[in-house]
Amino acid sequence: MRIIHLSAECYPAAKAGGLADVVGSLPKYLNQLGDQCEVVIPKYDNQWISSQNYKNIHKGSFKMAEEEVRFSVLKMKEDKLGFPFYVIDIPGRFDRPGIYIDPWSGRGYWDELERFVSFQIAALEWIKDEKKDPDIIHCHDHHTGLVPFMLSQCNRYRSMSGIPTVLTVHNAEYHGEHELDNYKLLPAFNIDNVGLLDWNGHLNSLAAGLKTAWKITTVSKNYMSELSENSNGLEMLFQQERQKSRGILNGIDTEVWDPASDALIEYNFSYKDRKKGKRKNKEYLCKEFGLNPDLPTISFIGRLVREKGADLLPDLFKQVMYSDQEVNFVLLGTGDPQLHQIFSGMAGDHVGYFDATLEYNEQLAHQIYAGSDFILMPSRVEPCGLNQMFSMRYGTVPIVRSVGGLKDTVQDISEDNGYGITFAEFNLEAATVAIERAVELYKDPKEFSKVLSTIMKLDFSWKRSAREYIDMYEALTQK
Ligand code: GLC
Repeated sequence: MRIIHLSAECYPAAKAGGLADVVGSLPKYLNQLGDQCEVVIPKYDNQWISSQNYKNIHKGSFKMAEEEVRFSVLKMKEDKLGFPFYVIDIPGRFDRPGIYIDPWSGRGYWDELERFVSFQIAALEWIKDEKKDPDIIHCHDHHTGLVPFMLSQCNRYRSMSGIPTVLTVHNAEYHGEHELDNYKLLPAFNIDNVGLLDWNGHLNSLAAGLKTAWKITTVSKNYMSELSENSNGLEMLFQQERQKSRGILNGIDTEVWDPASDALIEYNFSYKDRKKGKRKNKEYLCKEFGLNPDLPTISFIGRLVREKGADLLPDLFKQVMYSDQEVNFVLLGTGDPQLHQIFSGMAGDHVGYFDATLEYNEQLAHQIYAGSDFILMPSRVEPCGLNQMFSMRYGTVPIVRSVGGLKDTVQDISEDNGYGITFAEFNLEAATVAIERAVELYKDPKEFSKVLSTIMKLDFSWKRSAREYIDMYEALTQK
C-alpha cells in the first residue's frame, strides 16, 4: 500500500519532540512489513537538511489569498532513513532555522498559520500534479490537520476526494487556533461548510482535521479515553468522533535506540553485561557533572513546560535535597525561560547534587538514558511518552505519573511483575513519595537488579503497533 505521511517533524531531519521520533520510525517499520511509505516535511534551514543531497523533482505555484506562493519538492537522493524522504521548499516561509520557534527570540513565528497552510497546499498540489494517487494520506497533528478538510471540501482537489485520510493526534494540547477569517487562505470551498473549520468561533486546524479525516488515531489507548475528558477544549468533539477513533501505542526505533550499538553513548552494553555497562556509563555521566556515582541518579529529559510537569521539579528537587536522602538530579531540556533561570540558580546552589543542561542535545540525552538509575516523568498530560521506553531499553527505571501512555507502559513494582514506580496525583507530596520509593528500591540491590533485568527484556519495538496501523489502512481501502 502506498502511504504518504505529511508532518512538521521527522527525525533526524527536524525534531522538536516525540512527533519526530514517530514519523522518523513508524514508516520505516511499515515498509519493512511490505508497505510503501513516503515522508514529506517542510524544508527548514537547519544543518541536517542542508547537508543532504537532493533531486529537485517538482516545481509549482498556487494562490494563498492574494499571494502567489512558489514551491519546489526535493527528494533526498540516498535512501538512508528507510523510506523515500521529501522536503518542500517554500521560500519566504520555511527558510528559517526553527520548526515552530525562532531560536533567537524564543518566540513562535508570527506566521505559523500561513507557513503550515502553504506547506499543506503545496503537498496537495504536488500530489495532484504528479498524479501520485496514494492509497492513504496520513497526517500528523494540527500542522497537517487542514489536509483532510481540503481533500473533502475544496473544489480544486475534487479528483482526490476519494483518498482516505488518517489524522494521528500526538498532542491535543495544541490546536493551531486562529481567527476564523483565515479560511480565505484556503482554496475555494462551499462557504456553507465553513463550520467544519470552526471550533468556538475560531479556525481550529486540529478540530477541522478531526471532523473531516476518515480515521483518527492517537498514540496510546489510555490517552484515547482521556481525550473525551481532557483535551484543552475539544472534549465534546472527541466524544462525537469516537466511532472513527482508536488508540495505537507508539513504538520506538530499536535500531536507533540500542545500547549495544549506540554510537552516542560512552560504553556500549547489552542485556548480558548490563550491570557493568550501567556502572561505566553512570561513572562517565557523574564525572561530567561532578556527581557522586554511588548515589542514586534521577534524571529528567524533556521540554520544560507545564504539560510535562516541569514546574513541579524545582520544589521537588529542593525538598529531596534538603531531606536526609542523598540523591543526584540531572536535568536536560529547554522551555520556559523562568524555569531556565530557576534551574541555573539551583545548579549553582547545589553543586555535587544537581546539574542542569538547558539545551536540546540528542547525544547527551542518550548518555543520560544509559548512565542514570531512574528517569522521572511527572507529566500533567502525556499522550504516549517515548522517554520511558528509551530509558527502559537502556536499563533505567521509570518514575512516572500514571497518565496517558505512561499508564499503558509502566507497571508499578508493587504489582506482580511490576517494573517501575508510578504515582497518581499531580502534586509535590505524591511525587516526593515516588522518589522516596525509588531511593528505597536502589538501596535493595537484589530487587533493583531484578527490575533492571525485567525492563531490559521488555519489547517496545514497532512490531505490534505497526500491524495495527496496517489493519486500519487495509480496512480503509477496502471500502
Ligand atoms: C508528543 C507527545 C508524546 C508522544 C509523542 C509521539 O510529543 O507529547 O507523549 O509520545 O508526541 O507521539
